[in-house]
Amino acid sequence: MKITLKKGIDWIGKIDWEIRRFHGHEYTANRGTSYNSYLVRDEKNVLIDTVAAPFSLEFVKNLAEEIALDKIDYVVINHAEPDHSGALKELMRHIPQTTIVCTKNCVDSLRGHYHEDWNFQIVKTGDRLSVGKKDLIFIEAPMIHWPDTMFTYLTVDNVLFSNDAFGQHYASEFMTNDQVSQNDLFAEAMKYYANIVNKFSPIVLRKINEIKNLNLPISMICPSHGIIWKKKCEQIIDKYLEWASDYQENQVTIIYDTMWTATRQMAEWIAKGIHQEDSTINIKLFKVSNSDKNDIITEIFKSKAVLFGSPTLNNGLMSEVAGILEEVQGMAFKKKSAAAFGSYGWSGESVVKLTNSLQGMGFKIINQGLKIQWQPDTKAIKDCIEYGKEVARNI
Ligand code: FEO
Repeated sequence: MKITLKKGIDWIGKIDWEIRRFHGHEYTANRGTSYNSYLVRDEKNVLIDTVAAPFSLEFVKNLAEEIALDKIDYVVINHAEPDHSGALKELMRHIPQTTIVCTKNCVDSLRGHYHEDWNFQIVKTGDRLSVGKKDLIFIEAPMIHWPDTMFTYLTVDNVLFSNDAFGQHYASEFMTNDQVSQNDLFAEAMKYYANIVNKFSPIVLRKINEIKNLNLPISMICPSHGIIWKKKCEQIIDKYLEWASDYQENQVTIIYDTMWTATRQMAEWIAKGIHQEDSTINIKLFKVSNSDKNDIITEIFKSKAVLFGSPTLNNGLMSEVAGILEEVQGMAFKKKSAAAFGSYGWSGESVVKLTNSLQGMGFKIINQGLKIQWQPDTKAIKDCIEYGKEVARNI
């Protein structure tokens, strides 16, 4: 499959309709994904990124039908993670002398992954490579989202090949943003940002400003996953600027697990208290053990405050609550408030443990938490409602 994006620029990647778990099991790709590879043809021919290893043979076969492999002058690898470099080994088997253009960190990573000493050409920000009437300009983008990442910009056509940035895990037979549901597209783009990019938001802001200062007009953004921003690509740049600037909606997210419903009842009474105090606040509840963890992270990303609830189990937390805390810690959320709650029967350590964890992650702690013993009685319900009102007043 090939899609011509502009004269001399073809998408030649792979749509993966089957995948549902990405990065091991860390990311739920509920709409599938794509591995976007691009073929740029001028006086020189350049392949930008490849596809994941399981599709190597199919990819190289399709590529060879499009262009004689020995006519490829350069392979640009914007990022060495195997979803993009996975077909490199098969490709380079056919053209072992072809130059691979990438960052120094990318060379280290590719050598580490494939144990091959290919013909690398290391580039850094501002370096140009003439491909005929057009130039490629390279822009290092470390930590968006790996230390090896770079963007590649094509002059004349003004196309930014942004690798993971601006991408989404979204498979569609329509590969461009003017042909797909805008709600689905931006929902997937936000989920991707919240779960993969958000941790590096300060770098995102600096990088977008750096590109603006380079005076490189951008007419199209070609990410390495999902839909290509072919029309009005400034929309996703503006979204990234908004999302990278401590993005918040008027929302509180309540995340809990429960054994015999007491902590679930607490969550619901707390939600009622929040609503009674401020009915404009959007409240979302998730039982962590039966919810999509990436959706939870996305909702936390959107929230002003997050409440975590767990009953006490073996003097600690229920395991799924502990698991989501580990993910939340990795996200390094900023400028959000949090508090804990939970039921207990005998010892009741969960609320203190949760509060200490949240404090350690940099959340502003709203209060010292609320724990109740056994099932909520009339007083406990009143305490939950008051707790919810306090949360609403403090965000
Ligand atoms: Fe899509 Fe960081 O690989």
